[in-house]
Amino acid sequence: MNNAVTSWPEPVVRVRELSESGIRVIPDRYVKKPADRPEPGGGAEARLNIPVVDMVGLYSSDEGVRRRTAETIDVACREWGFFQVVNHGVSPELMRRSRQIWREFFELPLEEKLKYANTPRTYEGYGSRLGIEKGISLDWSDYFYLHYNPLRLRDPNKWPSLPVSCREAVEEYSEEAILLCEKLLKILSLNLGLPEDYLGRAFGGDDVGACMRVNYYPKCPQPELTLGLSSHSDPGGMTLLYPDENVAGLQVRHAGKWVTVKPAADAFIVNIGDQIQVLSNSTYKSVEHRVMVSSEKTRLSMAFFYNPLGDAVIKPAEELVSEESPAMYPATTFDEYRMYMRLKGTSGKSQVESLKSPR
Ligand code: OGA
Ligand code: NI
Repeated sequence: MNNAVTSWPEPVVRVRELSESGIRVIPDRYVKKPADRPEPGGGAEARLNIPVVDMVGLYSSDEGVRRRTAETIDVACREWGFFQVVNHGVSPELMRRSRQIWREFFELPLEEKLKYANTPRTYEGYGSRLGIEKGISLDWSDYFYLHYNPLRLRDPNKWPSLPVSCREAVEEYSEEAILLCEKLLKILSLNLGLPEDYLGRAFGGDDVGACMRVNYYPKCPQPELTLGLSSHSDPGGMTLLYPDENVAGLQVRHAGKWVTVKPAADAFIVNIGDQIQVLSNSTYKSVEHRVMVSSEKTRLSMAFFYNPLGDAVIKPAEELVSEESPAMYPATTFDEYRMYMRLKGTSGKSQVESLKSPR
């Protein structure tokens, strides 16, 4: 990691406070190029949705049901890079309570939040931009980023002390999220024809990375001109997203169109990150997604990232490489990979594509 980059190149504007100031016109820095703006009506493919998986099916006594459930996940990973899971084992009460606590955090007075202001050195804490280059385009959101695993990176003193229940909730939520990620990673490994523990081991074995970004998307007076989060693919392993089912926002790129995700009640959205695309030699796709904002409602989402350790070397699984399908990516550590996004900010799929080995 480039330790020289310890501060932002210009003052950081906090989007909730900008929104609350009552402006009617958003600053130019948030106005996207016409081609990047959300379509009026909220998405070209209104009928489509990402596949829904009822996880109960994975543990059915009926072998056919188990197989079909696993197949639905496999097809979703190949064709969408995204699916949503219900009956996933995480307590809906815990999910809703956590969301409420984080909402309260973002709605605290600015000076309280600024105690946790982040820097581009580690990104941990309260932030309002990605990418350190001066003058880059900005997104209509604030966030809080924290490390949970490995243990040596976990520092609850860097998590909000207000609301008082926040730290405890982060821990409870993370423990349950990790159990679900472990289950899902096993299923993905088996679906790829690999040993059940393959992806888990590739991520680091007993000690894998887990971090969380809570995204707060304030109301925006001109939602048609901007995005809450620009198009990107997640750089890590796998993401477990608790979306805000009360406000549509997440869009996924599918067959060249933006599809607006319609979350099921208490569902998690699961998506493949760049590292699983590499490990699966592009069998599974890390797909671009973005977030629209609303003039009427704030939106809060919790993205839990289940990642390789920083020094884990990630490369296509030998079992998936052959003369007919050669390795599409060179070996890279996750730390090396992640540097790029932190310098440039969100930038579609350019990175994993640029990594492709020349053939
Ligand atoms: C992310 C992300 C989507 C959302 O945090 O990487 O894509 O709905 N979030 O907030
Ligand atoms: Ni994302």
